[in-house]
Amino acid sequence: MTFDPASALAEIKARDAYRWRRIVESPQDTRVVIDGLPRVNFCSNDYLGLANHPAVREAFRRGVDRWGVGSGASHLVCGHSAAHHALEEELAEFTGRPRALLFSTGYMANLGVVSALAGRGDTVFEDRLNHASLLDGGLLSGARFRRYRHADARALEAALAESRAETRLVVTDGVFSMDGDLAPLPELARVARDGRAWLMVDDAHGLGVLGAEGRGTLEHFGLGAPEVPVLVGTLGKALGTFGAFVAGSESLIDYLIQRARTYVYTTALPPAVAEATRVSLRLVREEPERRERLRCNVRRFRAGAASLGFGLGDLPGPIQPLVIGANADALEASRRLGERGFLVSAIRPPTVQAGTARLRITLSAAHSNEQIDGLLEALADAVPQEA
Ligand SMILES: Cc1ncc(COP(=O)(O)O)c(C=O)c1O
Repeated sequence: MTFDPASALAEIKARDAYRWRRIVESPQDTRVVIDGLPRVNFCSNDYLGLANHPAVREAFRRGVDRWGVGSGASHLVCGHSAAHHALEEELAEFTGRPRALLFSTGYMANLGVVSALAGRGDTVFEDRLNHASLLDGGLLSGARFRRYRHADARALEAALAESRAETRLVVTDGVFSMDGDLAPLPELARVARDGRAWLMVDDAHGLGVLGAEGRGTLEHFGLGAPEVPVLVGTLGKALGTFGAFVAGSESLIDYLIQRARTYVYTTALPPAVAEATRVSLRLVREEPERRERLRCNVRRFRAGAASLGFGLGDLPGPIQPLVIGANADALEASRRLGERGFLVSAIRPPTVQAGTARLRITLSAAHSNEQIDGLLEALADAVPQEA
């Protein structure tokens, strides 16, 4: 029997799990036009408002004039431009590590790094709620794969204690992408060290946002390369552009250049993207007021949501999900918000666990007080509260 996509789709629809694309007709901003309708956007990862920043746009344009569009080849053939190289050096300096290595996406960075650092005979330990790319990297690696309870250093400790593997790699999100909470990095780092394991952190949602200087979840906790030797960051979220990097020691990066298959066997990013990212990184560093504004916006939203009786966890960052439960209810809440002019997508399984479909609300430094207050008003109408 051959696979029947039509009946698989019918089954997905029956579970209210069907997903579709909406067509965006404007640049990323707090106001977007989507499917022909104006909406105030509360679901982008453009946390600092850099995706459409004039200086970043200008750097991209200049990059195209200087480099053309395509990079032409993989980094190891003839695609590694001076723009890529300069960005790597700046990212290494920003993260306080000897070297950084660009990847074309965060998904590819995570697949490539985990599968290069662990293989048959090794064990990879991952938080249950890690991003799909980290989980997929663990599965792809061929190593023994153990998931530990979410954000639970004791569960990790117990799993490490049972392990006989010579090489052990502990992998976690810094800020969990669908829950908004932080990994308990100081405890995980201590447990990893005591358990003779490497610790790898994917700080896709912390970089640029957390810490006084925007160096992310590690800066927030006062940790550095000795505690977290493998650090992944993405460029398509707070930095507003596209791509990803891993930062670490000289030998780690040199090894990844040899062995990370998603680095070796793919075309390098367009150099103009690297040029644009160099400028957005400079803005991240030189304009801390963006982070301060984002913090104020998060505080304002949380205070308003609490006064409406919405239960939010202790979430310091821009991801503030409201867990609804059933898929159909989350879709309906998202639709009602849309009617009131707000774009907040419903996140459903398999992205999150069954029964925890949610509105993934994200704040940006670019939101105005009026936009946040408007969202709160709309939430009060659109999301039924339990009595
Ligand atoms: C935690 C985390 N890591 C990695 C990625 C993947 O990054 P990219 O979009 O650059 O592939 C994402 C989301 O996209 C993410 O949320």
